[in-house]
Amino acid sequence: MTINAAKQDFPVSKARRYLEPGPVVLVSSRCNGESNIMTLGWHTILEFSPSLVGCMISAGNHSHQMIRQSGECVINVPTTELTDKVVGIGNISGAQIDKFSEFELTAESARLVSASLIKECHASFECRLYEDALVAANNFFIFEIIAAHVAPRPEYPTTLHYTGDGIFMVAGEMINRRELFSKEML
Ligand SMILES: Cc1cc2nc3c(=O)[nH]c(=O)nc-3n(C[C@H](O)[C@H](O)[C@H](O)COP(=O)(O)O)c2cc1C
Repeated sequence: MTINAAKQDFPVSKARRYLEPGPVVLVSSRCNGESNIMTLGWHTILEFSPSLVGCMISAGNHSHQMIRQSGECVINVPTTELTDKVVGIGNISGAQIDKFSEFELTAESARLVSASLIKECHASFECRLYEDALVAANNFFIFEIIAAHVAPRPEYPTTLHYTGDGIFMVAGEMINRRELFSKEML
């Protein structure tokens, strides 16, 4: 059994290193004939049915206005092959450039929303704005996932998880404890 070293004081502003939740995603949007993509790490699942996800999209981002106005977006899940594009997309504004052509990504038509799916991503979730009560105060959008498109292989994709400071953790070994769960918790 691993014995942890004694805990020390740690900067509260860096707690993300341990708590940052799921994979970094690429959020695509479309508004008034314009398409855009942003990188996003701050999201959380809120409910299974309806399928709700909350995202913090800073008001300074071009995507914020586009998604607020259109009420739609697509959450795409990239894998390590796209690492440099994920960083590039998250370090430049789409106000002046078309990130699909700049980063050589393929836009595919979604089924229910006007924003495009990103073909090179492992999964794409079409979202409609479900609740905007926290947008003005906290830039927190609650979306309902209304259609989901997922590649069947690999079963466990090598997703990227941001820890801050330019460092990503990569999804790795999977462990199975299914037998310890009660049925309704699975
Ligand atoms: C790894 C990574 C994670 C990011 N996570 C978020 C996030 O959760 N929320 C956010 O508002 N911006 C986040 N950003 C910053 C935006 O992606 C960035 O400001 C981007 O340029 C916005 O593009 P836009 O102005 O075209 O919308 C992240 C950037 C990187 C590189």
